[in-house]
Amino acid sequence: MHFDNNIISIKEKLASIDWNFSDIKTADDLNSIHPYPAKFIPQIPRTLIKEIKVPSGTSILDPFCGSGTTLTEAQSLGIPSVGIDLNPIACLISRVKTQPFPPMFQESAEKCVQRAMTSRNYVIPEIPNLNHWFKVDIQHALASLLHEIRSVNDNLIREALQLAFSSIIVRVSNQESDTRYAAIEKNIESKDVFNLFLSACKHITKVKSENPSRYLAPVTVLQKDVLTITNSDLDQRIGLVITSPPYPNAYEYWLYHKYRMWWLGYDPINVKEHEIGARAHYFKKNHQTVDDFKNQMEVFLSLMRKIVIKNGFICIVIGRSIIHGQYIDNASILEELAMKCKMDVVIKITRKIPSNRKSFNLSYAKIKEETILVLHNK
Ligand SMILES: C[S@@+](CC[C@H](N)C(=O)[O-])C[C@H]1O[C@@H](n2cnc3c(N)ncnc32)[C@H](O)[C@@H]1O
Repeated sequence: MHFDNNIISIKEKLASIDWNFSDIKTADDLNSIHPYPAKFIPQIPRTLIKEIKVPSGTSILDPFCGSGTTLTEAQSLGIPSVGIDLNPIACLISRVKTQPFPPMFQESAEKCVQRAMTSRNYVIPEIPNLNHWFKVDIQHALASLLHEIRSVNDNLIREALQLAFSSIIVRVSNQESDTRYAAIEKNIESKDVFNLFLSACKHITKVKSENPSRYLAPVTVLQKDVLTITNSDLDQRIGLVITSPPYPNAYEYWLYHKYRMWWLGYDPINVKEHEIGARAHYFKKNHQTVDDFKNQMEVFLSLMRKIVIKNGFICIVIGRSIIHGQYIDNASILEELAMKCKMDVVIKITRKIPSNRKSFNLSYAKIKEETILVLHNK
């Protein structure tokens, strides 16, 4: 394959980097304001953005943006970006992380709690199996808090309060932990709901007020199934894509956020139906197969081919799957499809996933490595 000098230089620079980022520590920063499974370590998008420069007048796209790590990195480097995700909690996190921090947020949080502690003016939402997962006094505390949050007029403040609310749901439920779906007895009372909510708000205040000038570059977040996106959904020229797609049997984002979605008034079942790779699709009668995944990825890459400018780059980070005992090399699948879609593979890098990266430490998935695939839209 013949590459021009710019691509050769990018390839050489990318090849010389230690992508394991072995000595980094998880920082108590913007990415810690809400849990999210299988998120990027920020060093991955940061390094790709720095090494593959986007032409001026173009934006960076993450079509599976999750908790918005690519968007926050683009924004901190002053580059406009667009994120797409099917999951409303992902979109809420991405928006709150990239919006300017609203003054009066902490005061609003305290007011909501004061009112919620005495309010009788709320309705407990109809949520399947609610009594199994939430004690009755916790249900009342959450419902009254939510009622007060919803009555806040300022959109930026309300969304940041909703995010703080979402972040405490698993802790105040009977669910053992974020990744263990068993109901256990926990020593949680309604006052803990209010205290945990206020601590979550304080944490948001701390990390969001650290560097107010980092929120200047514009960020757009679209809550959509990426497979239904058309050119008209994006009003910006895309010069670079950095993303980690979902893949079979690795993680169920809808399940991870199921009760957060129910409480905030979203429909997790609809998210499940359209979520690529969800285990639920691979373990039922007439289950999906690797061919379904290939078809989805072909639609996705054809879309990237159309959306990204000529000579733009598409960086994809992906691990491998096990479907019914069979190992599936997703990176090779994407590599073949990229060539079918007339894109060049610039470089394929394998990096280790540290065993302490909690969200990947799933006994059934056993994902220890992931591949960074850099494609050129010739
Ligand atoms: C590996 S995660 C991305 C994590 C992200 N890189 C981060 O740092 O948080 C994959 C994402 O794809 C999303 N997703 C799954 N199916 C989708 C679809 N059909 N359309 C859009 N997003 C989808 C999931 O909701 C999930 O957030």
